[in-house]
Amino acid sequence: MTKSSRLDKKKQKKHETSQANNADRHVLYQKSVQDTDVELTLMVEKYKAIRGKDPLSFREDFCGTGLLSVDWCKSLDSRTAQGIDLCAETLAWGKQHNLEPAGEQVASRVELKLADVLEVSEPKVDVTCALNFSYSIFKTRDALCQYFEAARKGLKDDGIFMLDIFGGPESIDTSEEDREVDDETFEFVWDQDKYNPVTNEILCHIHFKFDDGSRIEKAFTYDWRLWSIVELNELLLEAGFSKTHVYWEEYVDDDDDDEYLEGTGNYIEVSEVEQQESWVSYIFAEA
Ligand SMILES: C[S@@+](CC[C@H](N)C(=O)[O-])C[C@H]1O[C@@H](n2cnc3c(N)ncnc32)[C@H](O)[C@@H]1O
Repeated sequence: MTKSSRLDKKKQKKHETSQANNADRHVLYQKSVQDTDVELTLMVEKYKAIRGKDPLSFREDFCGTGLLSVDWCKSLDSRTAQGIDLCAETLAWGKQHNLEPAGEQVASRVELKLADVLEVSEPKVDVTCALNFSYSIFKTRDALCQYFEAARKGLKDDGIFMLDIFGGPESIDTSEEDREVDDETFEFVWDQDKYNPVTNEILCHIHFKFDDGSRIEKAFTYDWRLWSIVELNELLLEAGFSKTHVYWEEYVDDDDDDEYLEGTGNYIEVSEVEQQESWVSYIFAEA
């Protein structure tokens, strides 16, 4: 064996045993991006505040692995959920890793459906959500309005539609930001690769970085238009929703750092706020 083929073999072995090569990108995504406790609490709290009752039926648009749908049904025995996604591989992963381990009692109340969110309007539900900015794939007003109309059609007469949105000056930087994930041996990397100020289109990637120096490059890629809160509000009303509510996280001064504001996790309804470097806000629209 030549020196160079011995080196190739060594490299190959290093790659095969690396943390990146042995990791599952859906597990990494769920651990670093999704916080279903926070999302469920907010959804139920705001629905109750607006409608005065407990929401039971739920539709998760762009559901990916359906984690939120499963956790919705785990949260109360009388809850049902339908998750909708176009990607068969992701849905199959979700059935194997989220739905089946939840047990028959929960799994029998969750439907993970392979479909386009534009094409589904039954069964009508109390709450529909489109989270992690997934609606941003729709890049024109017409396309987004068409999606909002479809979401409204799938709601009961007193249903609520929930969206999240991110913004602030940092959201249009082309930059890469690493974030540690609690108790894990990997870091989450959010890469804002390109931003076009003419169209407000943004190209982003998620990479994962491991303790042993290995990486998963472009585990997920997002080709989006960045919408603003006012545009979403206008389009929701155009699509037939009767009213929208914007919720903003309450911040308090950090005792140790004068310049830093700490999020409380409490979201309050707002119509005017001070700009922040980066923010995530939620919109709830009444059918
Ligand atoms: C950003 S992921 C969201 C995953 C998960 N909902 C979350 O909150 O983290 C976007 C998902 O939307 C799905 N998707 C994109 N276009 C879609 C469409 N028109 N109808 C249904 N699913 C779609 C993709 O397959 C992908 O799984």
